[in-house]
Amino acid sequence: MSSVKKIDHVAIVVNDIQAALGFWQDALGLTLAHEEEVAEQHARVAFLPLGECEIELVKPTTEDSGIARYLQKHGPGFHHICFQVDDIHATLERLKLKSIRLINEQPLTLPEGKKIAFIHPESAGGVLVELYELPKP
Ligand code: CO
Repeated sequence: MSSVKKIDHVAIVVNDIQAALGFWQDALGLTLAHEEEVAEQHARVAFLPLGECEIELVKPTTEDSGIARYLQKHGPGFHHICFQVDDIHATLERLKLKSIRLINEQPLTLPEGKKIAFIHPESAGGVLVELYELPKP
Protein backbone atom coordinates (compact mmCIF):
# COMPACT_ATOMS: atom_id res chain seq x y z
CA MET A 1 0.00 0.00 0.00
CA SER A 2 2.95 2.26 0.60
CA SER A 3 3.75 4.28 -2.46
CA VAL A 4 7.35 4.88 -1.39
CA LYS A 5 9.36 2.74 -3.80
CA LYS A 6 13.03 3.31 -3.05
CA ILE A 7 15.68 5.77 -1.97
CA ASP A 8 16.39 7.83 -5.07
CA HIS A 9 19.29 9.80 -3.68
CA VAL A 10 21.00 11.12 -0.58
CA ALA A 11 22.04 14.76 -0.83
CA ILE A 12 25.12 16.33 0.67
CA VAL A 13 25.49 20.12 0.71
CA VAL A 14 28.97 21.33 -0.23
CA ASN A 15 30.88 24.60 -0.62
CA ASP A 16 32.68 23.35 -3.70
CA ILE A 17 31.65 20.44 -5.95
CA GLN A 18 35.16 19.92 -7.38
CA ALA A 19 36.63 19.73 -3.89
CA ALA A 20 33.89 17.31 -2.74
CA LEU A 21 34.63 15.06 -5.74
CA GLY A 22 38.08 14.61 -4.25
CA PHE A 23 36.42 12.37 -1.66
CA TRP A 24 33.32 10.93 -3.38
CA GLN A 25 34.93 10.26 -6.76
CA ASP A 26 38.69 10.12 -6.35
CA ALA A 27 38.98 8.49 -2.91
CA LEU A 28 35.75 6.46 -2.70
CA GLY A 29 35.66 5.53 -6.39
CA LEU A 30 32.12 6.63 -7.33
CA THR A 31 31.60 7.94 -10.87
CA LEU A 32 30.27 11.41 -11.65
CA ALA A 33 27.29 10.75 -13.95
CA HIS A 34 26.10 14.29 -14.53
CA GLU A 35 26.31 17.80 -13.20
CA GLU A 36 23.72 20.51 -13.80
CA GLU A 37 22.38 23.86 -12.70
CA VAL A 38 18.89 23.63 -11.11
CA ALA A 39 17.54 27.17 -11.45
CA GLU A 40 14.39 26.43 -9.39
CA GLN A 41 16.51 25.49 -6.40
CA HIS A 42 19.29 28.06 -6.90
CA ALA A 43 21.78 25.23 -6.86
CA ARG A 44 24.32 23.35 -8.89
CA VAL A 45 24.05 19.58 -8.42
CA ALA A 46 26.27 16.62 -9.26
CA PHE A 47 25.01 13.02 -9.24
CA LEU A 48 27.14 9.96 -8.51
CA PRO A 49 25.21 6.69 -8.97
CA LEU A 50 25.61 4.12 -6.21
CA GLY A 51 23.73 0.86 -6.80
CA GLU A 52 20.00 1.63 -7.13
CA CYS A 53 20.55 5.03 -5.56
CA GLU A 54 22.67 8.13 -6.11
CA ILE A 55 24.72 10.55 -4.06
CA GLU A 56 23.74 14.13 -4.92
CA LEU A 57 26.22 16.90 -4.19
CA VAL A 58 24.44 20.26 -3.89
CA LYS A 59 26.13 23.63 -4.03
CA PRO A 60 24.06 26.82 -3.63
CA THR A 61 24.43 29.33 -6.46
CA THR A 62 22.91 32.32 -4.63
CA GLU A 63 23.51 33.73 -1.16
CA ASP A 64 19.92 33.75 0.07
CA SER A 65 18.32 30.44 -0.98
CA GLY A 66 17.21 27.87 1.57
CA ILE A 67 20.22 25.71 0.70
CA ALA A 68 22.61 28.67 1.05
CA ARG A 69 21.20 29.51 4.49
CA TYR A 70 21.45 25.84 5.51
CA LEU A 71 25.11 25.76 4.47
CA GLN A 72 25.86 29.02 6.32
CA LYS A 73 24.19 27.71 9.47
CA HIS A 74 25.33 24.06 9.54
CA GLY A 75 28.38 23.94 7.29
CA PRO A 76 28.81 21.20 4.68
CA GLY A 77 27.28 17.79 5.32
CA PHE A 78 24.10 15.72 5.04
CA HIS A 79 21.23 17.74 3.56
CA HIS A 80 18.28 15.52 2.54
CA ILE A 81 17.13 12.05 1.61
CA CYS A 82 14.91 11.57 -1.45
CA PHE A 83 12.30 8.84 -1.85
CA GLN A 84 10.77 7.85 -5.15
CA VAL A 85 6.98 7.57 -5.01
CA ASP A 86 4.38 6.30 -7.50
CA ASP A 87 1.97 9.19 -7.15
CA ILE A 88 3.26 12.35 -5.53
CA HIS A 89 -0.15 14.06 -5.39
CA ALA A 90 -1.68 11.12 -3.52
CA THR A 91 1.33 10.93 -1.19
CA LEU A 92 1.09 14.65 -0.34
CA GLU A 93 -2.66 14.35 0.28
CA ARG A 94 -2.10 11.41 2.61
CA LEU A 95 0.62 13.30 4.52
CA LYS A 96 -1.62 16.38 4.83
CA LEU A 97 -4.38 14.22 6.34
CA LYS A 98 -1.85 13.09 8.94
CA SER A 99 -0.95 16.74 9.71
CA ILE A 100 2.58 16.34 8.39
CA ARG A 101 4.13 19.75 7.71
CA LEU A 102 5.05 20.12 4.04
CA ILE A 103 7.43 22.64 2.52
CA ASN A 104 5.70 22.19 -0.85
CA GLU A 105 1.95 21.64 -0.57
CA GLN A 106 1.90 21.14 -4.32
CA PRO A 107 4.68 19.39 -6.25
CA LEU A 108 7.03 21.42 -8.44
CA THR A 109 7.51 20.10 -11.96
CA LEU A 110 11.09 20.23 -13.19
CA PRO A 111 11.81 20.88 -16.89
CA GLU A 112 12.46 17.17 -17.57
CA GLY A 113 9.01 16.27 -16.18
CA LYS A 114 10.02 15.03 -12.76
CA LYS A 115 7.69 16.12 -9.95
CA ILE A 116 9.25 16.96 -6.59
CA ALA A 117 8.17 18.15 -3.15
CA PHE A 118 9.84 18.52 0.24
CA ILE A 119 8.54 17.47 3.67
CA HIS A 120 9.51 19.76 6.55
CA PRO A 121 12.15 18.27 8.90
CA GLU A 122 9.96 19.30 11.84
CA SER A 123 7.56 16.48 10.91
CA ALA A 124 10.26 14.00 9.92
CA GLY A 125 12.46 13.62 12.98
CA GLY A 126 14.80 16.41 11.94
CA VAL A 127 15.41 14.99 8.46
CA LEU A 128 14.63 16.97 5.32
CA VAL A 129 12.78 14.51 3.05
CA GLU A 130 12.33 15.03 -0.70
CA LEU A 131 9.77 13.11 -2.76
CA TYR A 132 10.23 12.35 -6.48
CA GLU A 133 7.71 11.12 -8.98
CA LEU A 134 9.49 10.27 -12.19
CA PRO A 135 7.77 10.95 -15.54
CA LYS A 136 5.82 7.93 -16.84
CA PRO A 137 7.60 6.40 -19.84
CO1 CO B 1 17.47 16.06 -3.99
